Formats: sequence, C-alpha cells, structure tokens
Amino acid sequence: MGSLTVRNIGEDVKQRLRMRAAANGRSMEEEVRLLLADGAAEAVTPAEPSTGKRNTPVRPETAARRVLLVISGGIAAYKSLDLIRRLRERGFALRVVMTKAAQEFVTPLSVGAIAGERAFTDLFDQSSEFDVGHIRLARDTDLVVVAPATADLMARMASGHADDLATAVLLATDKTILLAPAMNPAMWAHPATQRNLKRLLADGVITVGPNAGEMAESGEAGVGRMAEPMEVVGRIEALLGQSSKPLTGRRMVVTAGPTHEPIDPVRYIANRSSGKQGYAIARAAAAAGAEVTLVSGPVTLPDPPGVRTVRIETARDMLRAVEAALPSDIGVFAAAVADWRVAAAGEQKLKKDAGGPPNLSLTENPDILATVARLKSNRPKLVVGFAAETEKVIEHAKAKLKRKGCDWIVANDVSAEGGAMGGDDNAVHLVTAAGVESWPAQSKDAVATNLVARIAAAFGKESR
Ligand code: C5P
Repeated sequence: MGSLTVRNIGEDVKQRLRMRAAANGRSMEEEVRLLLADGAAEAVTPAEPSTGKRNTPVRPETAARRVLLVISGGIAAYKSLDLIRRLRERGFALRVVMTKAAQEFVTPLSVGAIAGERAFTDLFDQSSEFDVGHIRLARDTDLVVVAPATADLMARMASGHADDLATAVLLATDKTILLAPAMNPAMWAHPATQRNLKRLLADGVITVGPNAGEMAESGEAGVGRMAEPMEVVGRIEALLGQSSKPLTGRRMVVTAGPTHEPIDPVRYIANRSSGKQGYAIARAAAAAGAEVTLVSGPVTLPDPPGVRTVRIETARDMLRAVEAALPSDIGVFAAAVADWRVAAAGEQKLKKDAGGPPNLSLTENPDILATVARLKSNRPKLVVGFAAETEKVIEHAKAKLKRKGCDWIVANDVSAEGGAMGGDDNAVHLVTAAGVESWPAQSKDAVATNLVARIAAAFGKESR
C-alpha cells in the first residue's frame, strides 16, 4: 500500500487530530497513519490468542528506528534507491528529502515508490510544511543520512546554509548526521572540499566513504565513489545501536600513527602510517560514549572532537603517555611503532663531511602492546593489537596474539591492492581466542565503527 490521501475531514476532526499529534510529538500524517494501522489491525485480528508477532506497522516509539535520508544531486543518487530498499527490508522507518539537483538524477516518484512515502522536496511547499514541516523532518528521526553527499552540499552544510529543504533540515537537526560523500576524485581532493570536510567533522558529522575505485565518468578513477549501500547500512545499524552509548563510563586508550625516532635534531626514522585507522577508532569509541585518550604519533589529522589527544614523537614517549592513561577498561594499539631507535642520537646535526656516512647503532624500542598486555596490575580488561602483514596474515596474527599476550588482533594484509597503509579502506580479520572473522573491505571509519560495536558487545556480556 502506497501513501494515502484522506479528503473531506471536518474542521473539528482536523483540529482534534492536530491537537492529538502535537500532544504525541508527531506530525499529523504520522498520527493518522498510526490510527489507521491500529484500526486495521483490530479489524483483521483473528479471534485466537495473539502470537505476539504483529504484521501491521508497529508504532515508531516501540519499534522502527527512524532514518531521514537526504539525497543530493550526484550520479551516485541511483545508489540511494538501493539504500532505501535495503533499509526498508531491515524495518527502518524512512523519510526522504531530495535536493533540486537530486531530482535530475532520480525522480521523487521512484524514490517515493520505493520508500513507501512521498519524497519531500520543497521548503515552501504549503502542504508538507503544514503536515510535517522542516523542523519536524529534522527532529522526528533517530539519524540523518546524506547519501550521496555532493561537494556542493558539503560546502553549503559547512557554511550553515538553509536556503532549500535539505540544508534547512540539516541545519535544524539535533540528531547525528552521517555523510556518504560521492564526487569526482579531483573534487574530493580539492583543498576547498577537504577544508569543508574538516569543518564538518569538527561539527560532529560522521562520514562513510568515499571509497577508491572507478568513477561513473569513463576513464576517471580515484577516491570519490560513494560507499556501497550495504556499507552505509552497516554504519547506520552500528550508529543506531550506539545511540544508547554502550561504552558510557568506560575508559579507553588508543594509540595511532607512526613514531619518529631521532637520528639527530633534524633527522629521524619513521614509517608511512597515516594514523587514520586509530583516529577513526578513537572517534567511534567517543561516539559510543567512551572516555577516550588518543596517544598519537606525528600525523596531519585534526584532534577528534570529544577525545583527549596526547601528541608524542617517540616510542618511549608513547609508552609513557599510555601508562599515564591507565587504568583503562580497553586498550587499542593501532600505532605503527618504530621497532628500533638510534642508540645514541646525535645532539648536534651529523655532518656530511665528518669522514663518510655515520655508523648508526640501533637499539630495540619498548613494545607498548606487549608491555600493557602483560601488566600485573592496571591491565585493561580488553587489549586489542593490530598486525600489518604481507603474507600468511592469519597465521602470523594468531602467533602474534600469543606472543604479545593481547586478547584480540585486528590483522590486515598491507600488501593487498588498495594499500591499507595511508589509504582510506581496510580489509581486516578479527582474530580472537574464539576464532577468526574476515570482514569485507570497507572504509577505515566502517572498520572502526564495527570494531567499537564488537567491543561494546564484549563489554555488554560482562556484568558491570
Ligand atoms: O610486532 P608488530 O609491530 O607487528 O605488532 C603490531 C602491534 O603491536 C600493533 O598493535 C602495534 O601498535 C603494537 N606495537 C607496539 N609497540 C611496538 C611495536 C608494536 O605497541 N614497539
């Protein structure tokens, strides 16, 4: 059954409906829908005792998680149709807002048909403003998802525009916003887009993708593809699962990025770690309510909002900062710590003309993960390590789990195409005492959300 139009309702009934809807904090449309659903359920309920299962629409407050989907105008808008279908299959209550440009790619009619409710398109549409209104659209939801999010919409969001229904809703909402950016790789990489992204992240917006790969335009490839609908669904499910903030009251320490080990005051030993995965974990854990300390080596990423970020340079500094963050319930060690440092770093810059290349003698750095995992007191209840491997990934990860004494290892194949090191995507295996789970390739943000959801589930089993 599609949408219903009810005509010829008397003014007094309308007035009472309006009052009832306002009292329940719902739109009139929603109120009528629920009244009809209840009436229909009563009319068709057989006499035998109820099985407890209902086939009729269930009241939103008891069941459906509500998502407001904003579709902006990019070629990836076709993916939003699949996203709508998949969300509906999972029982989400959906409302859809389309920008003017989005309607050039998919029609409100097709979106409405799949969503089971008409798509909202106009800020100044009298009937929808009367029935629902942009403020209601913005608030009567559990999550706002923008998919695809174009460069233009991101720019308008970052500047706080509100000159069409989509931007007005995005500005008015008090709910989390999940963006699935999609654009040409050059537009994504442009400093203006990156500046807007930074600002949006600082405002608390969460992103899924964009992923690397072929673009719709022939011959174009790079980072800019919208995350696949199932990846977006995964993020939505994880975020809404977290809406109760399952890690509230838990302390978590996360390491991220490389370490820099000085050779002399100007030179150092380093590696290519970008810190993206660790930062994404810190962000996801904070969003889940954890009190997070992020101990970060030198990276170019901004401090995640709501996270205490401690910036360090060397492995020894990182160990000290981690120890200072204990006791913690959870430790996630995503940093690519340098294994060795120069035993006696020069106090002055080493000179080229000092009679040939310097003879650098290396010494081993402390293993932060192993040190924390083997602590007698103050050991976090859950210690998670990472393993970047180029071959026999799972075998090596299992061995590492034992050797380091940690509880879980997140292992990835850094020789794989797409390059986890520095890239935005990661295909990982979660190795625990219970076995190995291989996760599909997904964005580092998605890996983080899923890992945090697993951590929350592990803590959920344990009585507090
Ligand atoms: O031994 P390997 O470097 O492969 O182990 C990787 C894991 O150990 C990661 O979780 C990394 O953060 C951690 N590690 C550490 N301190 C080191 C070396 C690695 O915490 N010195």
